[in-house]
Parts: sequence; structure tokens; C-alpha cells
Amino acid sequence: MSGLIAVVLAAGKGTRMKSRTPKVLHDLCGVPMIEHVLSSVRALEPSEIIVVINRELEGRLGDGVTCVIQEPQGGTGHAVQVALASARPNGAAVFVAAADMPLVGADLMREVVDARSRADTALSLLTARVDLPSPFGRVIRHDGRFVRIVEVADASPAERGIDEVNAGVYCFAPDVLRRFLASLKPNNAQGELYLTDCVGAAIAAGDTVTTVQAADPRSVLGVNTRAELALARAEMQRRILERHMLDGVTVVDPAATWIDAGVRIGADTVVMPGTHLQGSTQIGAACVIGPNSVLVDARIDDEAVILCSVVATSHVEQGATIGPFAHLRGGTVVATGAHVGNFVEMKNTRFGRGAKAGHLSYLGDAEVGEKANIGAGTITCNFDGKRKHRTRIGAEAFVGSNTSLVAPVEIGDRGLTGAGSVVLEDVGPGERVVGNPARRIQKKD
Ligand code: UD1
Ligand code: CA
Repeated sequence: MSGLIAVVLAAGKGTRMKSRTPKVLHDLCGVPMIEHVLSSVRALEPSEIIVVINRELEGRLGDGVTCVIQEPQGGTGHAVQVALASARPNGAAVFVAAADMPLVGADLMREVVDARSRADTALSLLTARVDLPSPFGRVIRHDGRFVRIVEVADASPAERGIDEVNAGVYCFAPDVLRRFLASLKPNNAQGELYLTDCVGAAIAAGDTVTTVQAADPRSVLGVNTRAELALARAEMQRRILERHMLDGVTVVDPAATWIDAGVRIGADTVVMPGTHLQGSTQIGAACVIGPNSVLVDARIDDEAVILCSVVATSHVEQGATIGPFAHLRGGTVVATGAHVGNFVEMKNTRFGRGAKAGHLSYLGDAEVGEKANIGAGTITCNFDGKRKHRTRIGAEAFVGSNTSLVAPVEIGDRGLTGAGSVVLEDVGPGERVVGNPARRIQKKD
């Protein structure tokens, strides 16, 4: 939306995390906590996103946002002063949210923005009814009408008993902040400039305020400790799983399935328990993933099966079957219909259509042709102590059990190695070799 500036408050020190990592950079379902807030804010299509940060966050947020440093941190009102000092808010509404409330989500943010413009009030803000005690500011109403927000530190016992709280998400009409921000005073228990005092000042000046109450108090969960981070993670995970299930993915046991925010899954895929789908993993339709599999930045095409295996930065093509107990990593491609089985590791390897490696092998920096058969115990000796070398295995080659392929080396199409061969030299198409060092025994063709 044009005419909207978004301010995200992230300058708080987050000391209760007891961490060397800034609070808002802690991981939440595969992305830093603040990224959840920023992606929701982006959905509002503001003309600018200003993030108020402390020094530790300098240079650590992605592109597309304007970072301004607030040092020292003089409260939420001070933070918004600092943000708007570098912006030209003239004529634009100002949306404000906190970086440590990752569950608010784009829909609720949109409601706050829309509620204000629909009612044409000075500002709108998000509230929620929560279990007490709560550290959040209390919403004071007279005869149901919103009057002001009182911080817990400044509240009377009766006010602390109010269970409607301020979630810290606001949309201010153009120029409202300019009228009230400059005259904030730190005359409160914390000696801070409270953004919430702008709300009270607007009411006192005769303006009206619209409130939006979150239907689910979990949406306003704030993260200040690692215990709260775990609560937020559980709720974020519940939402991610629900979205996939509504999109046609079977999640057999949601309590035993972990899926990151950036993962995509096609319809009719079944995700079995004990499975972790991480990072930018993309899975096609009608696959079976798990039980007990870990996929990190993996790409899995339709109808593939990944059983009790680890797949990292690798591509499994249509109908290929992986596992149990396989490990694909570092740019491996397993082509259509291939099978990689028990205790097989592949790294930076292209494994051809319909090829099979059923048991106990390491294939690194290798290229394996269509329908090749890799016997149990086959090892590509790709590292000579200094450098990595490639191994090429042709189509329909038969590599006997316990073959060591000392790279660089090549086995031609339909080439064969006997059990226990140590292959130091290339094997031509259709040739058969055996022994240590492997010697040609006959022409196959
Ligand atoms: C604020 C509200 C309170 C509300 C709560 C919801 C005020 C005075 N109070 O509480 O009514 O219930 O949010 O979360 O606004 N921040 C800065 N700079 C600062 C201070 C804070 O950037 O100087 C950031 C924090 O990093 C955080 C957000 O603002 O992301 C909220 O700050 P926090 O201290 O958690 O909230 P309170 O001020 O206690
Ligand atoms: Ca505070």
C-alpha cells in the first residue's frame, strides 16, 4: 500500500536470552525470529520499512529495510522518534510492530491497518485477552470506550487485574505521531519515553482510537527468554503443519514432525513421524518422506521415497527410492527411478537413471551411468591426501562387492569389476577386471 511507512522495533538488548546471538536473530522454524515479522510487514506493501536496531544488529539484517541505530534505548517512544527522524512520514500512515512478536502474522497486521482506515480514526492498535499475570501494558476502558494504556510498572493493583493487554502493534494516521511524539516525557516508573503515551495523548486531544482484539492470545506471544522462544516455536510449527495439511499433505503425527517455514510440499505426499524438513527443502507430490528422515535444503521430485535417511543440498528425482539409512549430501543428484539403500553415502555425485547402490558404499565426486549396479562395499577413493578426484562409472556397469575405485578413474559402459578389486587404471567399455591391483581378465563384448 502506498502511503504507509512501517517501523519495526528491534533495539532492545534481549539480555534475558543469555546469548551472544542478538535475540531477534535466534532461529524460529528455520529463519531468524525477526524475518517472520519482516515478511508479514512486507505483505502490507509499505513504501519503506524502518527497523530500529542496536549496535549488535548492525549489518546483520537482509536487504530491503532501512536500519537506524537507537543507542542508548530510551523506550518505545524514543525508538519511533529515532525511526521517523530519518524518514519523510509526511502524508503517510505509520505502522509499528515489535520484532520479538513473531506470531502476529500478516493477516492481523492487515486488520490493524484496515480497521484504522475504515473507521478513519487517529490510530488503531492490537489488543488481546491473556492469562494474568502478564508483562504487557493494560488497556484501560471507561464504559467500554478505550481511554489509555498503563504499563505494569505504573499500574495500580486494580489495573493489573485487567486482562486486556496492548500487543504493541499500531497504525497511526498521517501526522498523528508528529503531533504527539515530540512532547513525550519520561515521567514514569521506568524513566522511558513510552510510545503508548501518544495513544493517551491522542485520546486526551479528542481523537478516537480503534482497537482490534486478537482472537487467539497465542498470536501476541512475546519472546524474551528461551522458554518463550520454545513456546513461540511450538505455535509457529502448529501453524506451518496445519497449512501443509490443508494443502493436501498427510502429516501422520504432527507432534513428531518438524517443518521449517520455507519448506514446500506437494499434495498427497505423506510425511511420517520423526521427520525434519529444513531450510528451503522442496518436495513434490505423492512422495513418502520418513519415518526418521532429515532433509536440509533438499529437492525431492514426485513419487520419491525417503526412508530413515539424511538428504542435504541434494536432488532426488522422480520415483527414486532412498534408504533406509542413506546419506546424500553436497550437490548429489539421484536420477529418476534410481535406488540408494542401506548405509550408502553420496557426495557431489550424479547417480544415473535406474542405477542401484543397495548397501554399504561411499560414492564421492562420482558420475554413475544409467542402470549401473554398485555392489556392496564399493568405495570411491576420491581423496589422495591433497586433492579430490572424480570417478566415472558408465551405463550398465557392474561394480563388484568391495571394489575400491582409486580416482581419477573411469569404468566404461558395461564394464565389470570383480569382488575385492582395487581399480587403479581405467576400465574400457565392456572390459572385466579383477584383483589388487585390478587386471583385465577378458573382453566381455
Ligand atoms: C511495550 C508497550 C506495552 C506492550 C508491549 C507489548 C510501551 C511503553 N509499552 O512494552 O504496552 O504491552 O510493548 O510487547 O511501549 N524497543 C526498542 N527501543 C527501546 C525499547 C524497546 O526498539 O528503547 C523494542 C524492543 O526491542 C521490542 C519492542 O520495542 O521489540 C517492545 O519493547 P519491550 O521492552 O519488550 O516492551 P515494553 O516497552 O516493556
Ligand atoms: Ca521495556
